[in-house]
Amino acid sequence: MQFDSRGLAITTSSAEAASAIDRAVKAYMDYGTTAGAHIKDALEKDPACVLALCIRGYFFLMLENKALLPRVKQTLDEIKPHLGAASRREQLHVKALEAWAAGDIMGACARWEEILTEAPRDLLALKLHHTMTFYTGRSQVMRSVVASVLGAWDDKVQDYGCVQGMYAYALEECGAYDEAERWGRQAVERNPGDLWAIHSVAHVLEMQGRSKEGVRWLDYTPEQWAKKNPFKAHVWWHAALFLLAQGENERALALYDNALCSVNSEQYIDVSNQAALLKRIELSGEDIGDRWKALAEHSEKRIHDHMLPFRDAHFSLALAAGGKFDTARKHIDSMAAFAAEGMGWRAESTRNILIPLCEGMVAYEAGDYDKATDLFWPMRHEIVSIGGSHAQRDLFAQIICDAALHSSRLPVARSLLSERVLSRGTRKKNWEEYSSVLAALGDTKGAEDARRQAAQAHEAGA
Ligand SMILES: [Fe+2]
Repeated sequence: MQFDSRGLAITTSSAEAASAIDRAVKAYMDYGTTAGAHIKDALEKDPACVLALCIRGYFFLMLENKALLPRVKQTLDEIKPHLGAASRREQLHVKALEAWAAGDIMGACARWEEILTEAPRDLLALKLHHTMTFYTGRSQVMRSVVASVLGAWDDKVQDYGCVQGMYAYALEECGAYDEAERWGRQAVERNPGDLWAIHSVAHVLEMQGRSKEGVRWLDYTPEQWAKKNPFKAHVWWHAALFLLAQGENERALALYDNALCSVNSEQYIDVSNQAALLKRIELSGEDIGDRWKALAEHSEKRIHDHMLPFRDAHFSLALAAGGKFDTARKHIDSMAAFAAEGMGWRAESTRNILIPLCEGMVAYEAGDYDKATDLFWPMRHEIVSIGGSHAQRDLFAQIICDAALHSSRLPVARSLLSERVLSRGTRKKNWEEYSSVLAALGDTKGAEDARRQAAQAHEAGA
């Protein structure tokens, strides 16, 4: 029996294997590039170490590639002969891996919560739970579970800052912005390289429309993040949103080319970040050239994966925006077949929310704005259930708004924009659009008021 740096037991006689597991978890929490190598090292020292095998399985699943599922199954087969000797915590990790591999994300989250009630310092279980509650759109659960372990942590426990950063993010997604910012800044002070904590504060700034501060907050050079894994592209994505909010469209596009695309290789194209940024830049009126082509071609290879509804939504957008309407239709058919065969959260959210959303986006990209608006309108409040952050899902709100603006449904556009200017009221563009719709509906005074608000937003440089 060995122990990790937070005092949790690991079933192995090899101190070197335990140390390598510690380094793997540390690299994973740091968004480093060496986590996989450390697990390989652990398994060289002790090929029967259940926790190391389980973490290898987790790492495969984190890549969200259906083609890797056989390797997860093989890992589970390798674990079987050694499972009886493993601790209860390790056995629960294996159950979580089994559930996740079977597509039962809620089941995996339940197992991680079980672990955390008994071992609140299990940083790996906490981070995995945090990530997958994020991808299932359950902000309150994410907040509750981080809060439930905080009593077991303080600044004397290694990597306390990671928990502070997670709590900051969970608070932000629950709308507790002041508290979130405080926890997030404390985490960054503790560890200036903590990408997740930096990101948590960026979310607060995004949600509060503090784009000038946001540009300064994310003023990092590529060299500073040279040893970070592709998650850094998502943080650059946030930097681009701040630039867009400042009207710096060309700089946002340059960031797309130089930071987002260069981070991701041809093998790994991050469709969610790239499609979400391209669409926003397009909606800002900027010509984005033929940049959809690469994203659509990459998405075409993933139309039968269905590893996460959030990914499918962005594959669908990239396919339609890239003009691959036949493939977008095949993708929707594949989602329908997947939802019909499956059970549980993934199948349900695919059937009820994801498919209408994708149908709407395909209609929107094809220029059928009335059809798109009719598809979006009844499900617009439920998009949260496909996961992602408020900031990420705002793209869908923008598309829905744009569809309504171009449709004959002016009252719908008025309603959506009224909501938008109040929730993200500092955006000049929203006030201008709101003014135009009110004018088209004959509300001259409302249109004039909205125009004044647009000018004020412009003067504030927000
Ligand atoms: Fe984010």
